[in-house]
Amino acid sequence: MNRRNFLTTSSVVAAGALLSSIPGITEAKDDRKTGNELTKKKRIALIGTGSRGTSMWGKAVIKDYSDFVEYVGLCDINPGRVEAAKNYMGATCPTFTDFETMMKEVKPDVLIVTVNDYLHDKYIVRGLELGCDVISEKPMTTDEVKCQAILDAERKSGKKLTVTFNYRYSPHRSKIWELIQSGEIGEVTSVDFHWYLDTSHGADYFRRWHRKREFSGSLWVHKSTHHFDLLGWWLDSEPEEVYASGKLEFYGKNGKQRGKNCRSCSHKDSCDFYWDVDKNAYYKMLYTDNEKYDGYLRDGCVFKEDIDIFDKMAATIKYANGVQVAYSVVTYAPYEGYRIAFNGTKGRIDAWIEEKNPVYQSDYDEIMVTHNFGKRDFYRVLKSEGHGGGDKLLHDHIFTNKKEDPFKQAAGVRDGAFSILTGVAARKSCDSGKPIKIADLTDLVPKSKKS
Ligand SMILES: NC(=O)c1ccc[n+]([C@@H]2O[C@H](COP(=O)([O-])OP(=O)(O)OC[C@H]3O[C@@H](n4cnc5c(N)ncnc54)[C@H](O)[C@@H]3O)[C@@H](O)[C@H]2O)c1
Repeated sequence: MNRRNFLTTSSVVAAGALLSSIPGITEAKDDRKTGNELTKKKRIALIGTGSRGTSMWGKAVIKDYSDFVEYVGLCDINPGRVEAAKNYMGATCPTFTDFETMMKEVKPDVLIVTVNDYLHDKYIVRGLELGCDVISEKPMTTDEVKCQAILDAERKSGKKLTVTFNYRYSPHRSKIWELIQSGEIGEVTSVDFHWYLDTSHGADYFRRWHRKREFSGSLWVHKSTHHFDLLGWWLDSEPEEVYASGKLEFYGKNGKQRGKNCRSCSHKDSCDFYWDVDKNAYYKMLYTDNEKYDGYLRDGCVFKEDIDIFDKMAATIKYANGVQVAYSVVTYAPYEGYRIAFNGTKGRIDAWIEEKNPVYQSDYDEIMVTHNFGKRDFYRVLKSEGHGGGDKLLHDHIFTNKKEDPFKQAAGVRDGAFSILTGVAARKSCDSGKPIKIADLTDLVPKSKKS
């Protein structure tokens, strides 16, 4: 029988709570007198009251951070959805369907941007121009021209843009970061990184706006921005060149039958991808009850012929510090998760996640470290909810006064830019068949050492 060396990981989980500040937000103090202090709460407004806006940035913030921030405005082009959102979040602020009116009337300190990806640039730039700090969901934006406009606007405004990379905050990934930075496997030279989206979560990207490049930048940007950000953070370096290929060979025009959306479809009984959106009361309240205003179908057909994003993708990425990465994504896997391995001069780290494994269930995720000519150690990290516990830690980081950042998890505009530029370069490489240099896309020059 193999002898496994299990090493404690409690330091990671505990230290994960010691997170630092992000300028523009964190000076807010408890309005209800903490000791002798009495400082005003930050006034926040949000644009885009869909599921991400109302849950992660809505209900959860009002529930846990009302001592630090207060909502002063909510805006969405869909008048029904913005009212439903206010009700769901438990907010008391006014609602708007026009952004400029909201900004003029409520004058927030901070703007949260949770609209569709291709619109992020518009509201980030305008928010900065109007003197707000801005918090944007990932991806920062969808192409290099919009990226440059955001970089310029941030420099000119003197205000701060924060791109929220919740994946960095999971305790499992923090432990990987700690092992790499401690030199456990020497210098990292290459990485194998493979992400598996299943026929439920993966399929969902083909149901609505993400299915079109013009709205999501393709999954190279919409989804892989998370993974490219993780790579830059783990490797402490910035990407230099990308060579990629991708194909649409399962969803879209490849289906044998199709309809407009699941509820109206005549193939309900024979389609493996039939999904009754109204079984989810939250989705019904947010989306189907408000379809009449904008025709947004949350349960669009995954075999629509207008789908133009890839459903399988692979890339070779070179980092400025010489590390080579072999990366891939598939969107119709039977299970959801990823595998990653870091090859170093003194050994190798292997880590894997399988979400909701129906056969083998455990309370922890493992990391395996194998030393060249030496022993093999296993680390166990306790599982937690909300993107592996990342969502809550990210919120603490943004909305409270905690100053420490032991795992360097705070991400700024440069991180947001490089993570999307890697995806933009991959998309361009798929189209041109050539390797793409990141430095040719904007005025940012990749640094060998990020920090
Ligand atoms: N970090 C994560 O893990 C994570 C998870 C999910 C989504 N996201 C990101 O959050 C953002 C929102 O995603 P979602 O799933 O909530 O999308 P969604 O489609 O549910 O919500 C988008 C909302 O924006 C509104 N909108 C569209 N155009 C608008 C405009 N011009 N002005 C005002 N409102 C407008 C829509 O009516 C809709 O309510 C996306 O950028 C997505 O990439 C991040």
